[in-house]
Amino acid sequence: MNKHGIYEAESKLGGVSRRDFIGKTMLAGAGITASSMILGTANNQADAQTKDSKSTNAANKNLRKLGSLEVSSIGLGCMSGSAFFYPLPGKARMISVIREAYDRGVTLFDTAELYGPFTNEELVGEAIAPFRRNIVLATKFGFNYEGGNSIGPDSRPASIRRAVEGSLRRLRTEYVDLLYQHRVDPKVPIEDVAGTVKDLISEGKVRNFGMSEPGLDTLRRAHAVQPVAALQNEYSVIERSVEQGTLDVCRELGIGLVPWAPLARGFTTGRFGEGTAFLAGDYRGGLPRMFPEAMKRNLLLIELLDRWGKAKGATPAQISLAWLLAQGPNVVPIPGSTDPWHMRENLGAADIRFSADELARFRRELEAIPVIGVRGSPGSVAQNGVEAPAKN
Ligand SMILES: NC(=O)c1ccc[n+]([C@@H]2O[C@H](COP(=O)([O-])OP(=O)(O)OC[C@H]3O[C@@H](n4cnc5c(N)ncnc54)[C@H](OP(=O)(O)O)[C@@H]3O)[C@@H](O)[C@H]2O)c1
Repeated sequence: MNKHGIYEAESKLGGVSRRDFIGKTMLAGAGITASSMILGTANNQADAQTKDSKSTNAANKNLRKLGSLEVSSIGLGCMSGSAFFYPLPGKARMISVIREAYDRGVTLFDTAELYGPFTNEELVGEAIAPFRRNIVLATKFGFNYEGGNSIGPDSRPASIRRAVEGSLRRLRTEYVDLLYQHRVDPKVPIEDVAGTVKDLISEGKVRNFGMSEPGLDTLRRAHAVQPVAALQNEYSVIERSVEQGTLDVCRELGIGLVPWAPLARGFTTGRFGEGTAFLAGDYRGGLPRMFPEAMKRNLLLIELLDRWGKAKGATPAQISLAWLLAQGPNVVPIPGSTDPWHMRENLGAADIRFSADELARFRRELEAIPVIGVRGSPGSVAQNGVEAPAKN
């Protein structure tokens, strides 16, 4: 047990030594002791809590606002339950991670039509069915598909309506709490997109509007038609481009910021290194920052997180998430996890604080480390920051 009350167990993954940690506060709050965890009974207790999920969930004090939506300060990204990172966990395991996250206070669950495509929404719909009305369910539209594959952006009004009907069916719900446009469609004026979402809101099918990776003018134009509750952009200790204007616009307009890939797709947890080989088909194998030479040099960042973690009694993953939370009360990261131990570890970040001095020192140390490699593949980078055409 370290000074932050964290139980640790050594494990090996991908050839790189790492530690799995459980936040004692999370265990205590859930009525689970470290000794029961050691004896392997925690999962049974967590299962038992799923049956009485309201009581434990209601106890969550770490709440934040995305626009007017109240959510847990840390959400759960559900994408890798069905897509992109391999091996996939299997449906039963991901459903149990989602239900346990709810029991531990998580009320923001993130999916998208694109994940699978379609299968992640089906999985999430089944997982959240017992507590659907107590959570904020977020999904995304914005692509069209052929033969089960996305063939490009599509936010034409009729396509948005088609997507939403499908999402409602797969998610087993009558409404989506937070509906994001996944990427800006360079062919469709954003006024038409925001206007369609506004209509869906008045029809009761959608409750809040969100956007992901738009150009900033487009964000402002959309917000003028239908207030945007949340912006979902990539943001982590290694990917800080939102700090070049986007965060300021969010603060100015009262928009929440939901960092996706808040753990840089697992990199900032310290689990990967230059010897890591991703399985065939794992999306990360094609990302320049995950190429062996880049990882080798970017490991300086892991050393920083590890050092701060040791000083604050936390893991690199927890420092990564706590630092994001410290960037403003409107920031709500959605770490993705298919592993109950990781999910519990990540939720422990909500209890870690940085003083103003620590934040300034962390920033100085962070900015002294060069980041090697761009964040995405050329195709995905080209879809970020797109401005929608003007409405004639
Ligand atoms: N708007 C967009 O365009 C967009 C794009 C991508 C993703 N997203 C959303 O954002 C969510 C999060 O992003 P992401 O999943 O791409 O990246 P992420 O949250 O930065 O990282 C997820 C990866 O980190 C690993 N991980 C998580 N916690 C860990 C821990 N404590 N220790 C070790 N490894 C850990 C996970 O593995 P395990 O499963 O083994 O825990 C997984 O491989 C997604 O689920 C999705 O909902 C949105």
